[in-house]
Amino acid sequence: MRIGVLVSGRGSNLAAILEAAARGVVPEVALVVSNVATCPALEIARRAGVATRVVDPAVFAVRPDHDRAVAAALGAARVDLVCLAGYVRLIGAPLIEPFAGRILNVHPSLLPAFPGLHAPKQALDRGVRIAGCTVHFVDAGMDSGPIIAQAAVPVLPEDSEESLAARILVEEHRLFPAAIRWIADGRVRQEGRRAVWTDSPRTAGALESPTPGVRS
Ligand code: GRF
Repeated sequence: MRIGVLVSGRGSNLAAILEAAARGVVPEVALVVSNVATCPALEIARRAGVATRVVDPAVFAVRPDHDRAVAAALGAARVDLVCLAGYVRLIGAPLIEPFAGRILNVHPSLLPAFPGLHAPKQALDRGVRIAGCTVHFVDAGMDSGPIIAQAAVPVLPEDSEESLAARILVEEHRLFPAAIRWIADGRVRQEGRRAVWTDSPRTAGALESPTPGVRS
């Protein structure tokens, strides 16, 4: 299996995936694609010796054409599993369908609460006591696909958007590679609106637990 990672920004989740790939926890990252030529994530990929492609939305008349170009780049790199790691574009059928059940996103909230931008701020504004992150299969909606795994963190009275986002990010870096591993191993698959296990997650240890806060 070969992974393709889509990025638009800082690239800390990409770095976590690359680190997991270097340890053999997840398959090789074959290609990193970005819609933003100047994003720091691309530099992280280059430093790791991973092939990169910029697919500039400005040169495409309509969004489906951009999605098609991204899918073609992933296909040419023989990517089987696509990971959205801070990719700030909605994607549609031309990109989702070729990778149905093999395209994942990480989001900094306990979905279905707080989809979209600035999720930690949304959580603070609503006064929730528990926040977290979600890895889910991607569909055409905004952060709306079947949920694979979640991790929770407390919201502290003194939290700012930055401090809460940082606490959540630590869990993202643990959860995303773990979920990628489960998919690569064929242990979780998409079935309609749900992600289902093909074996019992209760037999899994350490990194593998999908239950927030449970580690051995
Ligand atoms: C992460 O919080 C991720 O959940 C969200 O965008 C952010 C990307 O951060 N989708 P990074 O680029 O991986 O550092």
